[in-house]
Amino acid sequence: MRRIYIAGNWKLNLNQSETKSFLDELKPKVTKVNENISVLVHPSFTSLMQAQSSLEGTAIQFGAQNCSNQDKGAFTGEVSIKMLKETGISSIIIGHSERREIFKETNENINAKLKAIREEATLTAIVCCGESEATRENGETDTWVEKQIEEAFKGISLDSSNIEKIVIAYEPIWAIGTGKTCDSNEANRVIQVIRAKFASLYSQDLADKVSILYGGSVKASNIEELLKTSDIDGALIGGASLMTDEFASIIDKSNSLLASTAA
Ligand code: PGA
Repeated sequence: MRRIYIAGNWKLNLNQSETKSFLDELKPKVTKVNENISVLVHPSFTSLMQAQSSLEGTAIQFGAQNCSNQDKGAFTGEVSIKMLKETGISSIIIGHSERREIFKETNENINAKLKAIREEATLTAIVCCGESEATRENGETDTWVEKQIEEAFKGISLDSSNIEKIVIAYEPIWAIGTGKTCDSNEANRVIQVIRAKFASLYSQDLADKVSILYGGSVKASNIEELLKTSDIDGALIGGASLMTDEFASIIDKSNSLLASTAA
């Protein structure tokens, strides 16, 4: 059984004191997490130390929304993976569509970041991909995401010992922050395309093991439908991860669903 991830992406929200209040409110609502589910939040860089102290001893882990592929040197404004690691992170999101669109990150940049993350054995990389509305309308969704995956994973060696440190998130851009969720069958179909691509790059065995999440307007009312599909292994959640009741309800529903399928 693949690991399920319920991962919040806070984007540019919540300063240190807001992070503290938010997590103080969230923690009592997330008292139990199924052992096969990882719950993660991804605050801004400046709130990571606050997340570390707030989340100590809880079942909620935290990560960063971005990183540099460089260790140190003349890279103004960048934050290295080693610096992030000092804050106690367990994951890093790379290749989010906002990074690609607004900050012009390319598949090559994402590949360089993934290589750098792979040098830190304990960190999980959450590698995002997904098509725009225009790409979808042109019927190029599958080839688009296949290319993103192929280029992001170029030269990255993976095997059964480190595959659990790789998570892919399929996020159709037109579904992000719009309230327009991708139909769960269609999201599952594209995720199967991604899994097949991964199998062609590595092996069927590794493709069967890699967790692939869906992202784009996920909320408590649609998480069950998404998780009931064959290939969706969790969610990367923006807006709904900034509401404690909603995020806790997503976690609760995922717990119950897993408990009922295990029973
Ligand atoms: P959303 O964002 O849940 O607000 O659509 C998802 C994301 O950008 O990761």
